[in-house]
Amino acid sequence: MSEHDVDTGTAEPPRHLARVIGITMAAAVGGLLFGFDTAVINGAVDSIQADFELSASVLGFTVAITLLGCAVGAWFAGGLADRWGRKKVMVAAAFLFAINSAGSAFAVSEWDLMVWRLVGGLAIGIASVIVPGYIAEIAPSKWRGALASVQQLAITIGIFVALLSDASFASAAGGAANEFWWGLSAWRWMLLVGVVPAVIYGVLALIIPESPQFLIRAHRDKDAARILSRVSGVRDTDGKIRQIRESFEREDRASYRDLRGPALGLQPILWVGMAIAALQQLVGINAIFYYSTTLWKSVGFSESDSFTTSVITSIINVSMTFVAIFFVDRVGRRKLLLAGSIGMTVGLLAATLAFLQAEGAGEDVALPGIWGPVALVGANLFVIFFAATWGPVMWVTLGEMFPNRIRSIALGVATMVNWVFNFIVTLTFPWVSANLGLWVMYAAFTVFAVVSFVFVRTRLPEFAGKDLEDNAELASAR
Ligand code: GLC
Repeated sequence: MSEHDVDTGTAEPPRHLARVIGITMAAAVGGLLFGFDTAVINGAVDSIQADFELSASVLGFTVAITLLGCAVGAWFAGGLADRWGRKKVMVAAAFLFAINSAGSAFAVSEWDLMVWRLVGGLAIGIASVIVPGYIAEIAPSKWRGALASVQQLAITIGIFVALLSDASFASAAGGAANEFWWGLSAWRWMLLVGVVPAVIYGVLALIIPESPQFLIRAHRDKDAARILSRVSGVRDTDGKIRQIRESFEREDRASYRDLRGPALGLQPILWVGMAIAALQQLVGINAIFYYSTTLWKSVGFSESDSFTTSVITSIINVSMTFVAIFFVDRVGRRKLLLAGSIGMTVGLLAATLAFLQAEGAGEDVALPGIWGPVALVGANLFVIFFAATWGPVMWVTLGEMFPNRIRSIALGVATMVNWVFNFIVTLTFPWVSANLGLWVMYAAFTVFAVVSFVFVRTRLPEFAGKDLEDNAELASAR
């Protein structure tokens, strides 16, 4: 490959580009585990309910407890990343991922299953903070958006793999066979296989380099210079190190107290971060991914049609992420998010109108005439726009938007907000749709899609192409 093959507009050597892509992919295995471990339970819930004789509410809690773990993990991840370094936190997450998969697979009751799922949540929460932050720190600024979007690509692949892997175990075990290979039932295998990517992640985390920001904070300037030049493609490493050091403002490590500010007790940029994190969940994406099969069954699709629909939706989710990878640095974060909000609003509105026509109750509910296809198209249109915009770009933005000094901890807090709202939507969805109707949930999602447009329009600065070190000014500019 000659230098001219890389159309970057500068003479940056392709070798560091290859390196930074490789490292990004290694770090993004954390995203794969994030996706896999949030979705894998879908295929297992029915058997778990039957095995442990659980009521619907205990089952619901067993499923949702992971999301609480995610919120806690996210909160602590930022502080730990500053204290231990990014790599060690990744290794810790990999360890938690592995013991969660093994522990859940051998659970003897719902109680220890809950404990292991909580541990899994900690791991997912940590990964959701450490991956976007780390990638933002090693990436050259003009490819930062694309590289950070690789994390969402990995998340969507993880969700897809979980769907397929669950279905394969279920069909290999057959309807009747509860005892499967080596005496373990199919649902236990579904959970157990998560150990494999977790171990791979742990090994990769040991190999990849530490983030330059962390190294400079730790006064390891020589190591930082090496990574800045070999991975991030920086020529004037001394200048860059000086710039990063200045951006820390003070020598001591930042604490959660540094998040305090004049706007209702917090720094304004943190409010912006928390808002986009909340909105990414409030448009209801996980109502589709966590309940897809149930969703389609509830409007009259057969079991196998529902599964096929879930597979198609998941493929759309993976493939549309490439749209973001392609555009996020070219057109910028704001334009993508705004376009996404418009598309999501249209799709959600169509789905709301369709679900409003639902006839019948309980098992017999169905969408008459054209409304079935309208719901299907509307929901998938929503997924298309989410996957191409808000899915990846929200994570990209959280990873890059905070000033260097507080980046890790602010990212952790905003990510925690994302998980809390995920938890709220996930918990309210079954009840509201059963008691008030599916359309009520979708109407609410539509409203939040509109709010997301207005919010980005009025509040979110553009971070594309800027150095992380310049974000402090950007953050206070709006
Ligand atoms: C984003 C969301 C996550 C969701 C996923 C779906 O990563 O943060 O909650 O499950 O997209 O692709």
